[in-house]
Amino acid sequence: MAALTLSTKRLVVTLPREDHAAAMLDFVERNREHLKPWNPPVPEGLYTRAHWQDVVKNCAVAFDAGRAVRLWIAPLEYPDCIIGSIGYSQIARGPFCSCVLGYQIDSESEGRGLMREALQATNQYMFEQQKLHRIAANYRPENVRSGRLLASLGFRIEGFARDYLFIDGAWRDHILTSITNDVFNTGWLRETPKL
Ligand SMILES: CC(C)(COP(=O)(O)OP(=O)(O)OC[C@H]1O[C@@H](n2cnc3c(N)ncnc32)[C@H](O)[C@@H]1OP(=O)(O)O)[C@@H](O)C(=O)NCCC(=O)NCCS
Repeated sequence: MAALTLSTKRLVVTLPREDHAAAMLDFVERNREHLKPWNPPVPEGLYTRAHWQDVVKNCAVAFDAGRAVRLWIAPLEYPDCIIGSIGYSQIARGPFCSCVLGYQIDSESEGRGLMREALQATNQYMFEQQKLHRIAANYRPENVRSGRLLASLGFRIEGFARDYLFIDGAWRDHILTSITNDVFNTGWLRETPKL
């Protein structure tokens, strides 16, 4: 059974368990309008409990297969209340050792440095435990908050991709950024990859 929980000063960041499904649904319902400008088309059934029960199972399967690390954020004092998520997908091994990062936080929790605190812990986990060399993160030029957050975490701008993702009803340009692992041990490249 897949399990991973990281704690920070104010947060618990965890692979979701079955009993998180209701709180995950509550998070997306509360934040429908807040997340709309930054999200792809909403999948069928997004606002149902069954959908989130499937998401919990898929998170565990993808984690065990080494394909993705999808984590959910709760306040340390209210561990049953979901206020955000962080996902590392498209995990590649071999000479690339890379992944793509996505994240979102409850509108009521913005502007308090909580996402930064969570990402500091999860990026460290991806570099030191998952042994990746690069984390890529891309944002729409209009998403100034996201750009500031990435810059504060050490992500560097590497390029601009026109019509990069289908977001909020259209193909949207994105700024491409990444951060690399200063403590990457090249001996890790000889370890049997998970995939
Ligand atoms: C992108 C997103 C995660 C950024 O969230 P955020 O709350 O601005 O990010 P942080 O948690 O790091 O907060 C940083 C802000 O809190 C402030 N802050 C307050 N206390 C702080 C602390 N202890 N430490 C750091 N920052 C603190 C900072 O001044 C900063 O504000 P500023 O950038 O205006 O100066 C959020 O806007 C979001 O979820 N948006 C919708 C989904 C989305 O856009 N996802 C990303 C797609 S690319």
